[in-house]
Amino acid sequence: MRVCLILLLAFAIGEERNIVNISSHGREQTGDDNRCRSGFFYREGWCTALSPKFLSFSGAVDYCAGIGAYSPSIHSKVDLDYWAGSAFDLSPRFWLDASCPEEGEPNQWRDKTPTDYMGPLGELQMCTPNYGFIMSSKGFVNETYSDMNQAVCVYPVDPMPEPPLINVDDQYCQCNKSAIELDIVFAADTSEGMSGTDVSDITSTIQSMLCSFALGIGAHQSNVAVLSFGNEVKLVKNFGDINSNDDISKINVPVLGGENPNFEEVIDQASSMLASTGRKLTRKAIVILSKSSSSIDYTNGISRAQQFQNTGGVVLTLDLAINSNALNGLSSRGYNIKLSSNVVADSLEAFCDANCFCQDGLVPYLVPNEKDRDLPMGCYKVGQKVAIFDDAQKECRKLKGFVITIHDDAKNFFLISLFPPKAPHWIGLKEYGSEFVWTDGSNDGYTWWAPGNPVKGLACVYAQQTSGFNTGWFSAPCKDYTYSLNYACQLRPFDAGYSGIQ
Ligand SMILES: *[C@@H]1O[C@H](CO)[C@@H](O)[C@H](O)[C@H]1NC(C)=O
Ligand SMILES: *[C@@H]1O[C@H](CO)[C@@H](O)[C@H](O)[C@H]1NC(C)=O
Ligand SMILES: *[C@@H]1O[C@H](CO)[C@@H](O)[C@H](O)[C@H]1NC(C)=O
Repeated sequence: MRVCLILLLAFAIGEERNIVNISSHGREQTGDDNRCRSGFFYREGWCTALSPKFLSFSGAVDYCAGIGAYSPSIHSKVDLDYWAGSAFDLSPRFWLDASCPEEGEPNQWRDKTPTDYMGPLGELQMCTPNYGFIMSSKGFVNETYSDMNQAVCVYPVDPMPEPPLINVDDQYCQCNKSAIELDIVFAADTSEGMSGTDVSDITSTIQSMLCSFALGIGAHQSNVAVLSFGNEVKLVKNFGDINSNDDISKINVPVLGGENPNFEEVIDQASSMLASTGRKLTRKAIVILSKSSSSIDYTNGISRAQQFQNTGGVVLTLDLAINSNALNGLSSRGYNIKLSSNVVADSLEAFCDANCFCQDGLVPYLVPNEKDRDLPMGCYKVGQKVAIFDDAQKECRKLKGFVITIHDDAKNFFLISLFPPKAPHWIGLKEYGSEFVWTDGSNDGYTWWAPGNPVKGLACVYAQQTSGFNTGWFSAPCKDYTYSLNYACQLRPFDAGYSGIQ
Protein backbone atom coordinates (compact mmCIF):
# COMPACT_ATOMS: atom_id res chain seq x y z
CA MET A 1 0.00 0.00 0.00
CA ARG A 2 1.21 3.47 -0.79
CA VAL A 3 1.89 5.67 2.14
CA CYS A 4 0.52 9.03 1.26
CA LEU A 5 2.67 11.90 2.37
CA ILE A 6 0.37 14.68 1.46
CA LEU A 7 0.94 17.49 3.88
CA LEU A 8 -2.17 19.44 4.52
CA LEU A 9 -1.49 23.02 5.34
CA ALA A 10 -2.02 23.49 9.00
CA PHE A 11 -4.47 26.34 8.88
CA ALA A 12 -8.11 25.48 9.05
CA ILE A 13 -10.76 27.62 7.52
CA GLY A 14 -12.64 29.34 10.26
CA GLU A 15 -16.31 29.99 9.96
CA GLU A 16 -16.84 33.20 8.13
CA ARG A 17 -19.48 34.62 10.39
CA ASN A 18 -18.79 37.96 11.85
CA ILE A 19 -21.05 39.50 14.42
CA VAL A 20 -21.88 43.00 13.28
CA ASN A 21 -23.73 45.23 15.67
CA ILE A 22 -26.52 46.81 13.74
CA SER A 23 -28.76 49.49 15.15
CA SER A 24 -32.47 49.67 14.49
CA HIS A 25 -31.78 51.60 11.30
CA GLY A 26 -29.42 48.98 10.03
CA ARG A 27 -26.21 50.90 10.40
CA GLU A 28 -23.25 48.79 11.32
CA GLN A 29 -21.46 49.82 14.44
CA THR A 30 -18.30 47.78 14.14
CA GLY A 31 -15.48 48.72 11.77
CA ASP A 32 -15.41 47.94 8.07
CA ASP A 33 -14.49 44.46 7.05
CA ASN A 34 -11.97 44.14 4.22
CA ARG A 35 -14.01 41.37 2.64
CA CYS A 36 -16.39 44.01 1.27
CA ARG A 37 -16.01 46.95 -1.11
CA SER A 38 -16.16 50.36 0.40
CA GLY A 39 -19.72 51.39 1.18
CA PHE A 40 -20.70 47.84 2.11
CA PHE A 41 -20.42 46.09 5.41
CA TYR A 42 -19.98 42.39 5.96
CA ARG A 43 -22.91 40.53 7.41
CA GLU A 44 -23.21 36.75 7.57
CA GLY A 45 -21.70 35.93 4.20
CA TRP A 46 -23.12 39.00 2.45
CA CYS A 47 -21.69 42.39 1.71
CA THR A 48 -24.58 44.64 2.49
CA ALA A 49 -25.53 48.29 1.92
CA LEU A 50 -28.74 50.11 2.86
CA SER A 51 -30.25 53.06 1.07
CA PRO A 52 -30.32 56.14 3.28
CA LYS A 53 -33.89 56.93 2.12
CA PHE A 54 -37.07 55.00 1.44
CA LEU A 55 -37.51 54.42 -2.27
CA SER A 56 -40.02 53.17 -4.81
CA PHE A 57 -39.33 49.77 -6.37
CA SER A 58 -37.57 51.28 -9.40
CA GLY A 59 -35.70 53.69 -7.10
CA ALA A 60 -34.48 50.71 -5.06
CA VAL A 61 -33.48 48.83 -8.23
CA ASP A 62 -31.53 51.85 -9.46
CA TYR A 63 -29.92 52.44 -6.09
CA CYS A 64 -28.61 48.87 -5.84
CA ALA A 65 -27.59 48.73 -9.51
CA GLY A 66 -25.64 51.97 -9.02
CA ILE A 67 -23.46 50.33 -6.39
CA GLY A 68 -23.07 47.05 -8.28
CA ALA A 69 -25.42 44.93 -6.18
CA TYR A 70 -28.96 43.53 -6.05
CA SER A 71 -31.74 43.35 -3.55
CA PRO A 72 -31.95 39.83 -2.13
CA SER A 73 -33.64 37.02 -4.06
CA ILE A 74 -35.35 34.12 -2.32
CA HIS A 75 -34.79 30.50 -3.32
CA SER A 76 -35.93 28.41 -0.38
CA LYS A 77 -37.74 28.48 2.91
CA VAL A 78 -34.31 28.84 4.53
CA ASP A 79 -33.68 31.99 2.46
CA LEU A 80 -37.11 33.30 3.33
CA ASP A 81 -36.60 32.80 7.04
CA TYR A 82 -33.14 34.28 6.83
CA TRP A 83 -34.27 37.51 5.15
CA ALA A 84 -37.39 37.72 7.31
CA GLY A 85 -34.99 37.60 10.27
CA SER A 86 -32.97 40.33 8.60
CA ALA A 87 -36.09 42.44 8.35
CA PHE A 88 -36.16 42.20 12.09
CA ASP A 89 -32.67 43.58 12.70
CA LEU A 90 -31.54 45.16 9.43
CA SER A 91 -34.46 47.07 8.00
CA PRO A 92 -38.10 46.35 8.87
CA ARG A 93 -39.45 46.67 5.30
CA PHE A 94 -37.19 46.38 2.32
CA TRP A 95 -37.70 45.64 -1.36
CA LEU A 96 -36.91 42.24 -2.82
CA ASP A 97 -35.79 42.32 -6.43
CA ALA A 98 -38.77 40.34 -7.82
CA SER A 99 -40.50 42.03 -10.71
CA CYS A 100 -43.49 41.05 -12.80
CA PRO A 101 -42.63 40.38 -16.48
CA GLU A 102 -46.26 39.73 -17.49
CA GLU A 103 -49.55 39.17 -15.74
CA GLY A 104 -49.94 35.60 -14.48
CA GLU A 105 -46.27 34.64 -15.03
CA PRO A 106 -44.02 33.78 -12.13
CA ASN A 107 -42.14 36.74 -10.70
CA GLN A 108 -38.63 37.21 -12.05
CA TRP A 109 -35.49 37.83 -10.04
CA ARG A 110 -33.51 40.68 -11.48
CA ASP A 111 -30.22 39.04 -10.40
CA LYS A 112 -31.03 36.41 -13.09
CA THR A 113 -31.36 33.56 -10.63
CA PRO A 114 -34.25 31.18 -11.42
CA THR A 115 -37.65 31.47 -9.76
CA ASP A 116 -37.28 28.08 -8.13
CA TYR A 117 -39.18 28.76 -4.90
CA MET A 118 -42.71 30.15 -5.05
CA GLY A 119 -43.17 31.09 -1.39
CA PRO A 120 -45.22 29.38 1.33
CA LEU A 121 -48.53 30.44 -0.32
CA GLY A 122 -47.25 30.35 -3.88
CA GLU A 123 -46.93 34.13 -3.80
CA LEU A 124 -44.40 34.24 -6.63
CA GLN A 125 -46.27 31.85 -8.91
CA MET A 126 -48.52 34.32 -10.72
CA CYS A 127 -47.55 37.93 -10.62
CA THR A 128 -49.60 41.11 -10.96
CA PRO A 129 -48.21 43.97 -13.04
CA ASN A 130 -46.81 46.85 -11.01
CA TYR A 131 -46.73 44.78 -7.86
CA GLY A 132 -43.54 43.72 -6.20
CA PHE A 133 -42.64 42.23 -2.88
CA ILE A 134 -41.07 43.55 0.22
CA MET A 135 -39.62 41.53 3.02
CA SER A 136 -40.99 42.07 6.48
CA SER A 137 -40.33 40.07 9.60
CA LYS A 138 -43.51 38.12 8.76
CA GLY A 139 -42.30 37.20 5.29
CA PHE A 140 -43.42 38.26 1.78
CA VAL A 141 -45.78 41.21 1.49
CA ASN A 142 -46.98 42.43 -1.93
CA GLU A 143 -46.87 46.15 -2.56
CA THR A 144 -47.24 48.38 -5.59
CA TYR A 145 -44.04 49.54 -7.23
CA SER A 146 -44.70 53.07 -6.09
CA ASP A 147 -44.74 52.23 -2.38
CA MET A 148 -41.75 53.57 -0.50
CA ASN A 149 -39.43 51.13 1.28
CA GLN A 150 -35.77 50.89 2.09
CA ALA A 151 -33.38 49.29 -0.39
CA VAL A 152 -31.16 46.56 0.97
CA CYS A 153 -28.41 45.83 -1.56
CA VAL A 154 -26.27 42.75 -1.22
CA TYR A 155 -23.67 40.64 -2.94
CA PRO A 156 -22.41 37.31 -1.65
CA VAL A 157 -18.90 36.96 -0.28
CA ASP A 158 -17.07 33.88 -1.44
CA PRO A 159 -15.72 31.92 1.46
CA MET A 160 -11.93 32.19 1.71
CA PRO A 161 -10.27 29.65 -0.57
CA GLU A 162 -9.46 26.26 0.76
CA PRO A 163 -5.76 25.74 1.32
CA PRO A 164 -4.02 23.65 -1.35
CA LEU A 165 -4.22 19.89 -0.85
CA ILE A 166 -0.49 19.50 -1.18
CA ASN A 167 2.22 21.54 0.43
CA VAL A 168 4.17 23.42 -2.19
CA ASP A 169 6.21 25.52 0.21
CA ASP A 170 9.33 23.51 -0.45
CA GLN A 171 9.23 24.14 -4.17
CA TYR A 172 8.49 20.48 -4.81
CA CYS A 173 11.01 17.63 -5.19
CA GLN A 174 11.35 16.56 -1.63
CA CYS A 175 13.95 13.95 -0.88
CA ASN A 176 13.26 11.16 1.54
CA LYS A 177 16.28 8.95 0.97
CA SER A 178 14.47 5.95 2.41
CA ALA A 179 11.70 6.32 -0.11
CA ILE A 180 13.52 6.53 -3.44
CA GLU A 181 11.49 4.74 -6.08
CA LEU A 182 13.44 4.02 -9.26
CA ASP A 183 14.10 1.12 -11.58
CA ILE A 184 17.88 1.11 -11.92
CA VAL A 185 20.44 -0.80 -13.96
CA PHE A 186 23.98 -0.43 -12.66
CA ALA A 187 26.43 -0.92 -15.53
CA ALA A 188 29.99 -1.58 -14.39
CA ASP A 189 32.77 -0.99 -16.88
CA THR A 190 35.23 -3.90 -16.64
CA SER A 191 37.12 -3.28 -19.88
CA GLU A 192 40.93 -3.22 -20.12
CA GLY A 193 41.11 0.39 -19.02
CA MET A 194 39.80 -0.62 -15.58
CA SER A 195 42.36 -2.02 -13.14
CA GLY A 196 41.53 -4.72 -10.59
CA THR A 197 41.34 -2.00 -7.92
CA ASP A 198 38.99 0.06 -10.09
CA VAL A 199 36.63 -2.90 -10.48
CA SER A 200 36.64 -3.63 -6.77
CA ASP A 201 36.06 0.08 -6.05
CA ILE A 202 33.02 0.24 -8.27
CA THR A 203 31.75 -3.07 -6.92
CA SER A 204 31.88 -1.79 -3.36
CA THR A 205 30.33 1.50 -4.45
CA ILE A 206 27.39 -0.38 -6.00
CA GLN A 207 27.08 -2.44 -2.82
CA SER A 208 27.03 0.64 -0.57
CA MET A 209 24.40 2.31 -2.72
CA LEU A 210 22.19 -0.77 -2.76
CA CYS A 211 22.30 -0.88 1.05
CA SER A 212 20.68 2.55 1.13
CA PHE A 213 17.64 1.54 -0.91
CA ALA A 214 14.46 -0.13 0.15
CA LEU A 215 14.67 -2.88 -2.46
CA GLY A 216 11.55 -4.19 -4.10
CA ILE A 217 8.80 -3.30 -6.54
CA GLY A 218 6.42 -1.62 -4.12
CA ALA A 219 5.83 2.10 -3.65
CA HIS A 220 8.91 3.93 -2.40
CA GLN A 221 11.10 0.94 -3.27
CA SER A 222 13.81 0.62 -5.87
CA ASN A 223 14.17 -2.30 -8.20
CA VAL A 224 17.75 -2.92 -9.31
CA ALA A 225 19.86 -5.01 -11.68
CA VAL A 226 23.59 -5.12 -12.41
CA LEU A 227 25.46 -5.52 -15.70
CA SER A 228 29.16 -5.84 -16.39
CA PHE A 229 30.46 -4.57 -19.72
CA GLY A 230 33.71 -4.49 -21.62
CA ASN A 231 33.68 -5.35 -25.23
CA GLU A 232 30.60 -7.42 -24.46
CA VAL A 233 27.84 -7.18 -21.91
CA LYS A 234 27.08 -9.73 -19.20
CA LEU A 235 24.14 -9.90 -16.82
CA VAL A 236 25.37 -10.00 -13.21
CA LYS A 237 22.11 -9.65 -11.30
CA ASN A 238 18.69 -9.38 -12.85
CA PHE A 239 15.72 -7.46 -11.41
CA GLY A 240 14.44 -9.38 -8.43
CA ASP A 241 17.72 -11.21 -7.79
CA ILE A 242 18.88 -8.92 -5.00
CA ASN A 243 16.66 -9.14 -1.94
CA SER A 244 18.87 -9.07 1.13
CA ASN A 245 22.09 -7.74 2.53
CA ASP A 246 23.50 -11.18 1.93
CA ASP A 247 22.62 -10.93 -1.78
CA ILE A 248 24.28 -7.53 -1.88
CA SER A 249 27.48 -8.73 -0.25
CA LYS A 250 27.71 -11.62 -2.72
CA ILE A 251 27.65 -9.39 -5.80
CA ASN A 252 30.66 -10.29 -7.87
CA VAL A 253 31.29 -8.29 -11.02
CA PRO A 254 33.12 -10.39 -13.60
CA VAL A 255 35.95 -8.67 -15.46
CA LEU A 256 35.19 -8.87 -19.20
CA GLY A 257 38.14 -6.98 -20.68
CA GLY A 258 38.23 -5.69 -24.22
CA GLU A 259 39.89 -2.57 -25.47
CA ASN A 260 36.72 -0.53 -26.01
CA PRO A 261 33.99 -0.41 -23.39
CA ASN A 262 30.82 -1.07 -25.36
CA PHE A 263 28.58 1.79 -24.13
CA GLU A 264 26.22 1.36 -27.02
CA GLU A 265 25.49 -2.26 -26.26
CA VAL A 266 25.24 -1.85 -22.51
CA ILE A 267 22.84 1.09 -22.79
CA ASP A 268 20.70 -0.86 -25.26
CA GLN A 269 20.56 -3.86 -22.98
CA ALA A 270 19.85 -1.78 -19.88
CA SER A 271 17.12 0.13 -21.76
CA SER A 272 15.34 -3.02 -22.83
CA MET A 273 15.56 -4.52 -19.34
CA LEU A 274 14.13 -1.30 -17.91
CA ALA A 275 11.35 -1.21 -20.47
CA SER A 276 10.01 -4.50 -19.14
CA THR A 277 10.12 -4.07 -15.37
CA GLY A 278 6.34 -3.71 -15.34
CA ARG A 279 6.39 -0.54 -13.23
CA LYS A 280 4.93 1.98 -15.66
CA LEU A 281 4.87 4.96 -13.34
CA THR A 282 8.37 4.44 -11.96
CA ARG A 283 11.23 6.39 -13.45
CA LYS A 284 14.04 4.45 -15.13
CA ALA A 285 17.72 5.08 -14.50
CA ILE A 286 20.98 3.72 -15.86
CA VAL A 287 24.07 4.18 -13.71
CA ILE A 288 27.31 3.82 -15.65
CA LEU A 289 30.38 3.28 -13.50
CA SER A 290 33.53 3.86 -15.54
CA LYS A 291 36.79 5.73 -15.80
CA SER A 292 36.69 8.31 -18.52
CA SER A 293 39.56 8.78 -20.90
CA SER A 294 40.31 10.86 -23.96
CA SER A 295 41.25 7.69 -25.83
CA ILE A 296 37.72 6.27 -25.66
CA ASP A 297 35.21 7.02 -28.41
CA TYR A 298 31.88 7.88 -26.77
CA THR A 299 30.02 8.88 -29.91
CA ASN A 300 27.68 5.88 -30.23
CA GLY A 301 27.19 5.64 -26.49
CA ILE A 302 26.17 9.27 -26.36
CA SER A 303 23.52 8.86 -29.01
CA ARG A 304 22.11 5.77 -27.25
CA ALA A 305 22.14 7.59 -23.91
CA GLN A 306 20.30 10.46 -25.56
CA GLN A 307 17.65 8.11 -26.93
CA PHE A 308 17.12 6.69 -23.47
CA GLN A 309 16.79 10.17 -21.99
CA ASN A 310 14.29 11.09 -24.68
CA THR A 311 12.02 8.33 -23.41
CA GLY A 312 12.09 9.91 -19.97
CA GLY A 313 15.00 7.95 -18.50
CA VAL A 314 17.92 9.43 -16.63
CA VAL A 315 21.57 8.44 -17.07
CA LEU A 316 23.91 8.83 -14.11
CA THR A 317 27.63 8.35 -14.53
CA LEU A 318 30.13 7.65 -11.75
CA ASP A 319 33.59 8.51 -12.96
CA LEU A 320 36.80 7.23 -11.43
CA ALA A 321 38.97 9.53 -13.52
CA ILE A 322 40.16 12.68 -11.82
CA ASN A 323 41.22 14.80 -14.77
CA SER A 324 38.63 13.94 -17.36
CA ASN A 325 34.98 14.85 -17.68
CA ALA A 326 34.33 12.81 -20.79
CA LEU A 327 31.43 10.93 -19.14
CA ASN A 328 29.52 14.20 -19.05
CA GLY A 329 28.40 13.48 -22.58
CA LEU A 330 26.75 10.23 -21.55
CA SER A 331 25.04 11.47 -18.43
CA SER A 332 21.89 13.51 -18.17
CA ARG A 333 22.81 17.12 -17.47
CA GLY A 334 24.20 17.49 -13.96
CA TYR A 335 24.30 13.73 -13.31
CA ASN A 336 28.03 13.04 -13.78
CA ILE A 337 29.41 12.24 -10.33
CA LYS A 338 33.05 11.86 -9.46
CA LEU A 339 34.03 8.84 -7.43
CA SER A 340 35.02 10.33 -4.09
CA SER A 341 34.58 9.63 -0.42
CA ASN A 342 31.14 11.26 -0.72
CA VAL A 343 30.05 9.18 -3.64
CA VAL A 344 27.22 7.40 -1.84
CA ALA A 345 25.73 10.60 -0.43
CA ASP A 346 26.22 12.39 -3.76
CA SER A 347 24.56 9.53 -5.59
CA LEU A 348 21.60 9.35 -3.23
CA GLU A 349 21.04 13.05 -3.78
CA ALA A 350 21.19 12.43 -7.53
CA PHE A 351 18.75 9.52 -7.19
CA CYS A 352 16.37 11.80 -5.32
CA ASP A 353 16.62 14.38 -8.10
CA ALA A 354 16.09 11.66 -10.71
CA ASN A 355 13.06 10.55 -8.73
CA CYS A 356 11.46 13.98 -9.16
CA PHE A 357 9.64 14.02 -12.48
CA CYS A 358 6.30 14.59 -14.15
CA GLN A 359 4.05 11.76 -15.18
CA ASP A 360 3.42 11.18 -18.89
CA GLY A 361 1.01 13.67 -20.38
CA LEU A 362 1.93 16.46 -17.97
CA VAL A 363 4.16 19.34 -18.97
CA PRO A 364 7.07 19.90 -16.57
CA TYR A 365 8.26 23.39 -15.74
CA LEU A 366 11.96 22.57 -15.60
CA VAL A 367 14.29 24.73 -13.58
CA PRO A 368 17.96 23.71 -13.12
CA ASN A 369 18.96 23.23 -9.50
CA GLU A 370 22.37 24.09 -8.02
CA LYS A 371 23.81 20.90 -9.57
CA ASP A 372 22.44 21.99 -12.96
CA ARG A 373 19.92 19.14 -12.94
CA ASP A 374 16.58 20.05 -14.49
CA LEU A 375 13.90 19.58 -11.87
CA PRO A 376 10.19 20.16 -12.41
CA MET A 377 8.77 23.05 -10.45
CA GLY A 378 5.33 21.64 -10.86
CA CYS A 379 3.70 19.51 -13.55
CA TYR A 380 1.03 21.13 -15.68
CA LYS A 381 -2.15 19.62 -17.00
CA VAL A 382 -3.94 21.76 -19.51
CA GLY A 383 -7.71 21.56 -19.06
CA GLN A 384 -9.64 19.68 -21.77
CA LYS A 385 -12.34 22.33 -22.01
CA VAL A 386 -12.68 26.01 -21.24
CA ALA A 387 -14.34 26.77 -17.92
CA ILE A 388 -15.40 29.56 -15.61
CA PHE A 389 -12.76 30.13 -12.96
CA ASP A 390 -14.60 28.46 -10.10
CA ASP A 391 -15.13 25.28 -12.16
CA ALA A 392 -11.49 25.30 -13.33
CA GLN A 393 -10.33 25.44 -9.74
CA LYS A 394 -12.71 22.59 -8.81
CA GLU A 395 -11.30 20.43 -11.60
CA CYS A 396 -7.75 21.14 -10.48
CA ARG A 397 -8.52 20.27 -6.87
CA LYS A 398 -9.84 16.89 -8.02
CA LEU A 399 -6.27 16.24 -9.21
CA LYS A 400 -4.88 17.50 -5.89
CA GLY A 401 -3.63 20.60 -7.65
CA PHE A 402 -4.74 24.16 -8.24
CA VAL A 403 -5.10 26.64 -11.08
CA ILE A 404 -1.56 27.70 -12.06
CA THR A 405 0.18 30.39 -10.09
CA ILE A 406 2.81 32.86 -11.27
CA HIS A 407 5.41 34.30 -8.92
CA ASP A 408 8.14 35.43 -11.31
CA ASP A 409 8.89 36.42 -14.90
CA ALA A 410 10.34 33.03 -15.81
CA LYS A 411 7.11 31.26 -14.90
CA ASN A 412 5.07 33.94 -16.64
CA PHE A 413 7.13 33.25 -19.75
CA PHE A 414 6.88 29.45 -19.44
CA LEU A 415 3.09 29.59 -19.29
CA ILE A 416 2.85 31.29 -22.67
CA SER A 417 3.94 27.98 -24.20
CA LEU A 418 1.11 26.00 -22.56
CA PHE A 419 -1.72 27.75 -24.35
CA PRO A 420 -2.54 28.70 -27.93
CA PRO A 421 -1.10 32.11 -28.85
CA LYS A 422 -3.09 34.99 -27.36
CA ALA A 423 -5.60 32.63 -25.71
CA PRO A 424 -6.66 34.11 -22.40
CA HIS A 425 -6.17 31.67 -19.52
CA TRP A 426 -7.00 31.77 -15.83
CA ILE A 427 -4.36 32.27 -13.23
CA GLY A 428 -4.83 31.13 -9.66
CA LEU A 429 -5.40 34.54 -8.17
CA LYS A 430 -8.72 35.70 -6.76
CA GLU A 431 -9.84 38.68 -4.78
CA TYR A 432 -11.65 38.12 -1.53
CA GLY A 433 -12.97 41.43 -0.27
CA SER A 434 -9.97 43.66 -0.78
CA GLU A 435 -7.36 40.95 -0.57
CA PHE A 436 -5.92 38.91 -3.45
CA VAL A 437 -5.24 35.29 -2.55
CA TRP A 438 -3.23 32.74 -4.58
CA THR A 439 -4.55 29.21 -5.08
CA ASP A 440 -1.24 27.77 -3.82
CA GLY A 441 -1.68 29.56 -0.50
CA SER A 442 1.23 31.88 -1.24
CA ASN A 443 1.03 35.56 -0.41
CA ASP A 444 3.63 36.45 -3.01
CA GLY A 445 3.27 40.00 -4.23
CA TYR A 446 4.47 39.54 -7.84
CA THR A 447 1.85 40.89 -10.25
CA TRP A 448 1.69 41.68 -13.92
CA TRP A 449 -1.48 43.72 -14.28
CA ALA A 450 -2.35 45.11 -17.67
CA PRO A 451 -3.03 48.86 -17.62
CA GLY A 452 -6.39 49.65 -16.02
CA ASN A 453 -6.43 46.48 -13.94
CA PRO A 454 -7.36 45.13 -11.45
CA VAL A 455 -10.99 46.19 -11.76
CA LYS A 456 -12.93 46.46 -8.51
CA GLY A 457 -15.78 44.00 -8.26
CA LEU A 458 -14.26 41.52 -10.76
CA ALA A 459 -12.56 39.05 -8.47
CA CYS A 460 -10.88 36.65 -10.90
CA VAL A 461 -7.83 37.11 -13.09
CA TYR A 462 -6.80 35.86 -16.48
CA ALA A 463 -3.50 36.28 -18.27
CA GLN A 464 -3.26 36.95 -21.96
CA GLN A 465 -0.37 37.37 -24.32
CA THR A 466 -0.57 40.95 -25.51
CA SER A 467 2.28 41.36 -27.97
CA GLY A 468 5.37 39.28 -28.60
CA PHE A 469 6.39 37.68 -25.34
CA ASN A 470 4.48 40.19 -23.27
CA THR A 471 1.47 39.17 -21.26
CA GLY A 472 -0.87 41.12 -19.07
CA TRP A 473 -3.24 40.19 -16.29
CA PHE A 474 -6.88 41.21 -16.56
CA SER A 475 -9.77 41.20 -14.11
CA ALA A 476 -12.82 39.09 -14.96
CA PRO A 477 -15.92 37.74 -13.23
CA CYS A 478 -15.48 34.29 -11.66
CA LYS A 479 -18.86 32.74 -12.41
CA ASP A 480 -19.94 34.34 -15.67
CA TYR A 481 -20.12 31.75 -18.45
CA THR A 482 -19.21 34.30 -21.09
CA TYR A 483 -15.83 34.12 -19.34
CA SER A 484 -15.23 30.43 -19.97
CA LEU A 485 -11.47 30.37 -20.51
CA ASN A 486 -8.52 28.02 -20.90
CA TYR A 487 -6.82 26.90 -17.75
CA ALA A 488 -4.10 24.56 -16.54
CA CYS A 489 -3.74 22.75 -13.26
CA GLN A 490 -0.45 22.84 -11.41
CA LEU A 491 0.31 19.46 -9.82
CA ARG A 492 3.04 18.16 -7.57
CA PRO A 493 5.64 16.03 -9.36
CA PHE A 494 6.34 12.50 -8.24
CA ASP A 495 9.32 12.54 -5.93
CA ALA A 496 11.04 10.37 -3.37
CA GLY A 497 8.13 10.23 -0.98
CA TYR A 498 5.23 11.23 -3.21
CA SER A 499 3.83 8.99 -5.92
CA GLY A 500 1.01 11.09 -7.19
CA ILE A 501 -2.71 11.00 -6.74
CA GLN A 502 -3.63 8.20 -4.38
C1 LIG B 1 -24.14 46.40 20.33
O1 LIG B 1 -24.38 47.75 20.61
C2 LIG B 1 -24.97 47.98 21.90
C3 LIG B 1 -25.31 49.47 21.99
O2 LIG B 1 -24.30 50.26 21.46
C4 LIG B 1 -23.98 47.51 22.97
O3 LIG B 1 -24.54 47.68 24.27
C5 LIG B 1 -23.69 46.02 22.74
O4 LIG B 1 -22.73 45.57 23.66
C6 LIG B 1 -23.18 45.79 21.33
N1 LIG B 1 -23.05 44.38 21.07
C7 LIG B 1 -21.99 43.85 20.46
C8 LIG B 1 -22.02 42.39 20.20
O5 LIG B 1 -21.02 44.53 20.10
C1 LIG C 1 -51.47 40.58 -2.32
O1 LIG C 1 -51.41 39.61 -1.28
C2 LIG C 1 -52.68 39.27 -0.74
C3 LIG C 1 -52.40 38.34 0.43
O2 LIG C 1 -51.52 37.33 0.07
C4 LIG C 1 -53.53 38.65 -1.80
O3 LIG C 1 -54.81 38.33 -1.30
C5 LIG C 1 -53.69 39.62 -2.97
O4 LIG C 1 -54.37 39.02 -4.01
C6 LIG C 1 -52.32 40.09 -3.45
N1 LIG C 1 -52.52 41.14 -4.42
C7 LIG C 1 -51.86 41.17 -5.56
C8 LIG C 1 -52.20 42.33 -6.44
O5 LIG C 1 -51.04 40.31 -5.89
C1 LIG D 1 10.59 8.33 4.48
O1 LIG D 1 10.16 7.16 3.84
C2 LIG D 1 9.98 6.05 4.71
C3 LIG D 1 9.69 4.83 3.83
O2 LIG D 1 8.61 5.07 2.97
C4 LIG D 1 8.87 6.37 5.69
O3 LIG D 1 8.67 5.29 6.57
C5 LIG D 1 9.25 7.62 6.46
O4 LIG D 1 8.18 7.99 7.30
C6 LIG D 1 9.57 8.76 5.51
N1 LIG D 1 10.07 9.90 6.27
C7 LIG D 1 9.55 11.11 6.15
C8 LIG D 1 10.21 12.17 6.96
O5 LIG D 1 8.63 11.36 5.43
